[in-house]
Parts: sequence; structure tokens; C-alpha cells
Amino acid sequence: MSRLVVVSNRVILPSERIQRAGGLAVAIREALGRSGGLWFGWSGELSETPEPTCQTDTKGKMEFAVFDLTPAEFDGYYNQFANSTLWPLFHYRIGLVKFSRSALQTYLAVNARFAEMLIPHLKPDDTIWIHDYQLLTLAGELRKRGVTNKIGFFLHIPLPGVDTLAVLPGLGTLMRGLAAADLVGFQTERDLQSFKDYVRQEVGGTIGANGTINCFDRTIEAGAFPIGIDTRVFAGLAEKALSKPECQQIKEGLGSRKLLIAIDRLDYSKGIPSRFEACEELLRAHPEHRGQFELVQIASPSRTDVASYRDLRREIDRLSGRINGAFSEVHWAPIRYINRTYPRQSLAGFCRMAAVGVVTPLRDGMNMVAKEYVAAQDPNDPGVLILSRFAGAAAELGSALIVNPFDVDQCADAMHRALVMPLEERQARWRTAMDTITRNDVKAWWTSFTTRLMASQARAAA
Ligand code: F6P
Repeated sequence: MSRLVVVSNRVILPSERIQRAGGLAVAIREALGRSGGLWFGWSGELSETPEPTCQTDTKGKMEFAVFDLTPAEFDGYYNQFANSTLWPLFHYRIGLVKFSRSALQTYLAVNARFAEMLIPHLKPDDTIWIHDYQLLTLAGELRKRGVTNKIGFFLHIPLPGVDTLAVLPGLGTLMRGLAAADLVGFQTERDLQSFKDYVRQEVGGTIGANGTINCFDRTIEAGAFPIGIDTRVFAGLAEKALSKPECQQIKEGLGSRKLLIAIDRLDYSKGIPSRFEACEELLRAHPEHRGQFELVQIASPSRTDVASYRDLRREIDRLSGRINGAFSEVHWAPIRYINRTYPRQSLAGFCRMAAVGVVTPLRDGMNMVAKEYVAAQDPNDPGVLILSRFAGAAAELGSALIVNPFDVDQCADAMHRALVMPLEERQARWRTAMDTITRNDVKAWWTSFTTRLMASQARAAA
């Protein structure tokens, strides 16, 4: 069997603690750790002068090769084009999109640099799997340099509808680079549909009867492959976490109050302000809950060099202060907002202790926290998941309380409903969700994508 080479912007090196990473990197580490292969990407560090070769390491069956970006590359590629242009656009936040031609050029150049740094590490029968929006044109850059290996690409974030996508200058260049892959994977059928609509309406391409896609002089394959978590491992982690000091402290602080948990990167796509407003509405509409619950919002700092992220932090500070100021008692505050990162095991423990998991992003590719919350529950006394219809996870977790996060009143109603839901209903909803995430776990995702990639028959158009 050929070796798998996984390429992502972030890599978790053997020496690193896992909590620095997002859901994508955790999923790759879990799956690649089992199957073995090379993990290639940015080191997470900056060097003034471009490094000529990669830093390498190994751990068990995994090899690592990473390189530093220069400060200028980091700014143009990561802060600007990836996270101030693509990220807001792909999350339907056109008003936040900032475009500059020079940032696009840097993004393309960094994708080319990824190709140049990767090629010396490639073997003829390697299968390459590229991840996410930071590396949309890497497949094209590899092909330009003569790489003929099988290449897969997976988009972890949403692909917006064609009218939104079309806003982006340089879109054709990005999509041509993407279509150099043999198989393109998305989180949901809706994202896949957006891709097909784009191909038909903007490129003049066609969709074959067997689902193949003809565009940019190539015939490629595309599919929806919803990402999963390591459900069994996370459930075990949650059970063991309860004895951890952080979990004990939360338990003591809560007393008989119920815990509502929300865990996110501090990102405007996650809907944190609307969630706080829903909590405020719950307190107003249902005064019987005052003093009876706490909403713990863990928001790990993210992309702090990007202005919209700094603005968001100020907004959340202000909002949590206002709501707590209005409703707190000397012995209780409704919202505990924590702006830091916790170890994975503590987060698993918080999820297990929580009567309600509040996962209400305005838009999200998948949202692994939704799945982690389900996995962490005690089967005898499970909590209730409130889930945004705009998270990819909603396509699989229909037994959650599904809400529109823009409807603050509806979210407040769902919080009330979750807080008073009888045990039998909680168990029935949880069992359905747990069965789904046990079946569709990270291993199933990994196997379905890689099997389809290895069997793919992409070719240049005749
Ligand atoms: O898929 C979402 C994503 O951008 C991943 O690529 C990344 O691992 C995660 O969010 C965290 O973001 P960042 O790497 O910018 O901290």
C-alpha cells in the first residue's frame, strides 16, 4: 500500500501539546497516528530568511516535515488572504471580507513554496492528501512541477453558494489550482452542491452521470465526507476527566446549579455574542432559571493579529460584562467567560458535567465540539445538545435541539427546553446521536476518503 502524505497548514509536532491545535489538526493526528505516513506543513514558527530545507522528526509510524514562514509570508498568506479574505467569505460574512491583490499574490506564492518544500520528500507511489482553505492551489503547484501522484483535497470549512463565491477576485485561479486534485472532498452535501453549481455556472463545466466533474480541462471526482471524532477515545477521556482538579473546581463552584457549556475558538463564525444574548433572553423570559444555571463559555484566543478577531474580543468582553452586571447576585453570575485554552481532557470533563452543550455557530464546516459533547455524556444521565442548523454537524445530529442562531428568542427557548427536558427524552435523543457519531467516527471518515482517493480515475480532458 502506498504511503500517505498529509499536508495541512498546521502540524502538531511530537514535541507539541495538542491544545494549541484546532479540530482539523487533532483529527489528522489521531488518524495518521494509526495509519502511519508523513505529515507536512508550516512549523507554526517564523524565520526572517526562508529556510532552504524542512525540519524533520518521527514518532511511531508518523514522520514529520515542517518549515518556518517568513513574517511577510505569514502576514500576506495567513493573516490577510486566508483569514481576512477566504475565511469570512466562505463563512458567508461578505461584510468582513478584505481583499488585496498583493495578499492574493503572497497566498499563491506560499502555496508554491509548500510545493517546492514538499517535493524532495515525495516518493513515486505516495498518495498526497491536502487539507483546507489555506492550501487551495497547492495541488496545481505540484502538478506544474511534474508531480503525477494521486492528490486529494479536503475542504474543512463551508463552500458558500455561487453568488457569494463569485465575489472573490482571483476565484478562477484558486479553483483551477484546486481542480488539479483527483478527488475533492467536502463536509456536507450542501458544500458539494455549491461546488457543482460553481463549476456549471461560472466555469461552464459539466457534471458526469456518475458524479464526475469536468472542469478546467480535467475530469475529477468530488464527494461529501463528513469528518468525525475518535468517539470511543473521547468518551473514555471524559469519563476519566471528572477527577481532574479543574473539573472538581467547576463542580464545587456550581453546587446544585446546571452547567451550560460552550467551547470555541474566539471566532466570529461561532456566534458567541448571539449565544450570550440568548442567555440574556432566557433570564428575562424565564426568571425561574435565575441562579439555577451557569453558562461557561471557553473561548480560546485565535488569529489575534487579525483586526476582526480583536474587535470580536472587545464585543464579547462588553456583552458578558453587561449581562452579568444586570443579572448577577453576590453569590452567582450567569456567564463565566474564559478567554484561554484548556487541555483536551479538561474540556472533555467539562462536557460530561454539562447539562447542556451550546453549539450555535452562525456558520461552521462541521463543528467537532458538537460531536465531542455527545461523546462525553454519561449514558445514564445525558445532557442535551443545542445545535445550530448552520453547523455541518446538523446534517448528522438531527436529534439535537436544532436552532437558527440568528433567532435569539428561539435559542433562549431551546435553552429553557434543554434545562427542563425529562430524562427519558434526553436519553432517546442522545442514543440516536451517539449511534451516529460512533458509526461515522474519524476512522470511518479517513477510510472513506482515502479509499475513494486511491480508486479515483481523474484524467486530463480528452
Ligand atoms: O478548519 C478550520 C481551521 O482553520 C483549521 O484549518 C485549523 O486547524 C483551525 O481552524 C484553527 O485555525 P488556525 O490554524 O488559524 O489557528
